[in-house]
Amino acid sequence: MKGLRVIGWGKALGEKLVTNDDLAKTLDTSDEWITERTGIRQRYIGGSVASLSILASQRALAVAGITGAEIDMVLLATTTSDQIVPSTAVAIQAALGISGGALDINAACSGFAYGMAVANGLLATGLRRILLIGAEQLSTITDFTDRSTAVLFGDGAGAVVLEATDGPGDLLSYVLGSDGDLKHLLYAEHGSYLHMVGKEVFRKAVQVIVDSSNEAMDKAGITVNDLALMVPHQANLRIIQSACQRLGIEESKAMITVDRYGNTSAASIPLALVDAIEEDRLKPGDLVLLTGFGAGMTWASLILRWNP
Ligand code: COA
Repeated sequence: MKGLRVIGWGKALGEKLVTNDDLAKTLDTSDEWITERTGIRQRYIGGSVASLSILASQRALAVAGITGAEIDMVLLATTTSDQIVPSTAVAIQAALGISGGALDINAACSGFAYGMAVANGLLATGLRRILLIGAEQLSTITDFTDRSTAVLFGDGAGAVVLEATDGPGDLLSYVLGSDGDLKHLLYAEHGSYLHMVGKEVFRKAVQVIVDSSNEAMDKAGITVNDLALMVPHQANLRIIQSACQRLGIEESKAMITVDRYGNTSAASIPLALVDAIEEDRLKPGDLVLLTGFGAGMTWASLILRWNP
């Protein structure tokens, strides 16, 4: 059985930087409120899911030192596909000259972490290289007149190139979960904006991060003391802090990017992972906890050995 190894990474951000003060010009809000309640200071808006994905993927392919022709499959985690049909993954496939399959995955903010588990299975059963992207243009489903959601979201993309490797590989464990009875907490109908019951999402998010992270560590046979870094979904700094506290993980071990990018849903974990790599927060052999939660609700936690 083959396993998975990360061999390339890249990111792209929406074209326009929007600060909290920019939003406060048209909304009844303030930099102070947004920063205090969420940790968000700014976000990037603009670009399409395809254009952001292509840019992030070109960078990831360059790091891996390969071309699109050497990729067997594109997996795009997104909730904001550019069209209903076809998938946005095919636009990436065509732009990068990839010859294999292309598929969108919608597991909301957990999408990238779900994608790692899906890729692991495909690599174990015959594919050689997979381009996995998390990308969103949440600005298309955000009501910029609603202060309770408008301040939270941003646009961006993060991509990784995954290669099959002999032996068990670097994905040591994964835990996926969902509870469709909670779909009313966070949803957007076709043609409508995102609706959210913020307080309930907050409460449930902390619980699923803690439970699924503990389960993923148990499955991998490790404890929090073995972790070098936690790369959580970036929705709210206070959610990350609460989760760290309950898990017994020092906050300094959590990668934080919500201040710079806001909540970018499926793009948030890969954006944070790429920043962690570029800021030298990972060294070979380090164990990383990736943990995501989002609409559905869905959640996913996995343990990755950093071994590029
Ligand atoms: N600026 C100023 N005031 C705001 C505001 C804003 N942007 N948004 C809401 N408020 C007001 C509310 O109207 C409310 O006013 P009231 O007391 O007069 O009724 C007050 O602030 C408190 O609102 P509340 O919703 O109770 O705040 P909160 O502490 O729960 O924070 C969130 C709101 C959205 C930041 C928080 O609930 C959260 O982050 N939830 C999780 C969301 C999430 O992670 N979503 C994505 C999941 S992937």
